[in-house]
Amino acid sequence: MSNTRNKRNAARRAVVAAAVAGCLVGVVAAVPAASAQPAEVTFTKDIAPILQRSCQGCHRPGPGGGAPMSLLTYNDVRPWARAIRARTAERTMPPWFIEKDVGVREFKDDPSLSDAEIALIGRWVDAGAPRGNPADLPPPRQFPDGKEWTIGEPDLIVSSPEKVIEAVAADWHGYWESTPVGLAEDRYVKAVEVHEVRVSGGMAKAEGLGGYSVIHHAGIMAGTPGEGVAAGPVNPTDGGFAMTHEAGQNATRYTDGLGVTLPAGSSLHWRVHTHSFGEEVTARLDVGFQFHPDGYQPKYTAPGPGVFLTFNDLDIPAGAKDLRFDALGVTKNPSKLVTFEPHMHAGGTRMCLNAQYPDGVRETLTCAGYDHNWVKVYNYADHAAPLLPAGTILHAIAWYDNSTGNRNIIEPRNWHGLGSRSMDDMFFFLGRFVGLTEEQYEEELAARQGRAQRSAQDN
Ligand code: HEC
Repeated sequence: MSNTRNKRNAARRAVVAAAVAGCLVGVVAAVPAASAQPAEVTFTKDIAPILQRSCQGCHRPGPGGGAPMSLLTYNDVRPWARAIRARTAERTMPPWFIEKDVGVREFKDDPSLSDAEIALIGRWVDAGAPRGNPADLPPPRQFPDGKEWTIGEPDLIVSSPEKVIEAVAADWHGYWESTPVGLAEDRYVKAVEVHEVRVSGGMAKAEGLGGYSVIHHAGIMAGTPGEGVAAGPVNPTDGGFAMTHEAGQNATRYTDGLGVTLPAGSSLHWRVHTHSFGEEVTARLDVGFQFHPDGYQPKYTAPGPGVFLTFNDLDIPAGAKDLRFDALGVTKNPSKLVTFEPHMHAGGTRMCLNAQYPDGVRETLTCAGYDHNWVKVYNYADHAAPLLPAGTILHAIAWYDNSTGNRNIIEPRNWHGLGSRSMDDMFFFLGRFVGLTEEQYEEELAARQGRAQRSAQDN
């Protein structure tokens, strides 16, 4: 899946980083240390808490779940024990592909399992997946309305029109009718989460490309009512709300201090790409917004770094493996990178982002695996979001696998190049940068107390 040599180098550097910045390596779960391991690992005591935290958001019955089987009760889980061991050991479940041996290690809403938790699951399965004492079972996790908003109950939900996506059809790109947001005054957005809602059809399992989603992606932006359909994408006024929703995406939480507005009287415009998967489906998008309180004043108003990382000249031969492309850019203004968001298509398997600072120091900020069924946005924890002085050279590297080894590749005998269909490929780094003044940059750098040069890593 990934480039071994690169990973090995990264790992070597990460050892130093881990030793220096040991406090950064988040040990989240209350897993006992090796010396205090319980004699028997049981479902009720050890496994249920892990499943509650990292799996049940998707693996439960009902409309908000979306995963093929429930993992709520022991009886639900038992038949899947081996599969759970396999998918957690290979770190494909939960879907979260940040490489933990390099770069920044702290993210918001990180559902991933620690090595200790994965080992615990392995021991439990090896021991025959025992149930344990029912009294140890934690209270069940509650899913009040059947649908879970990881940002918490939204202040406003704006729905797209409901659309029928035919069972078999070419990929469709176009505009849906805009939806008025219904706000009487401008609001600042704190967090946003988009759900693809299945109104009817399509509950059978669709393997591979596109997985469970018929909405491959949607450019969602606030603008003047009606404008989106006729006039194409509205370039939102500075700081206006605009995002790209992608299949399998998680919530976006804007860094505190950001001034993303949802204007009074605006509409959301939907620039949508749908991808049929063999069953007729009626679907829509729900966008849940959480707002900052009245009176909130954004701290960050400086211009962004003016960098956009992309590489268009993709040339991916049939059957190619471990193919690498590079994209470069230079920041014009000081900034902070608040999200890491690789966007590729079916062939993509991994993306890394490296920075070379004006003083010549280089570091790897983040590497993540890529699965086109799960196009994740990784929100850096505020205190770990990379600080980038003006003149930083950013270097994104993307890897592609166009062979049978990649289950998202339907026909490995096809050449791939740049294109907007799901079966074409792409290389975009969509991470979000926040512009900082020189003073803000210096201040935030100083606040890191020299613990790490600019991000999470010592150099
Ligand atoms: C974001 C939603 C989500 C989360 C969180 C999640 N899963 Fe999944 N899981 C899915 C979906 C969708 C599938 C089916 C597609 C696939 O196989 O990748 C799946 C498939 C699986 C499978 C394979 C089932 C099969 O048919 O073989 C296993 C096993 C699994 N998940 C276990 C887990 C465990 C254990 C966790 C938590 C540690 C977890 N998942 C977290 C959505 C999720």
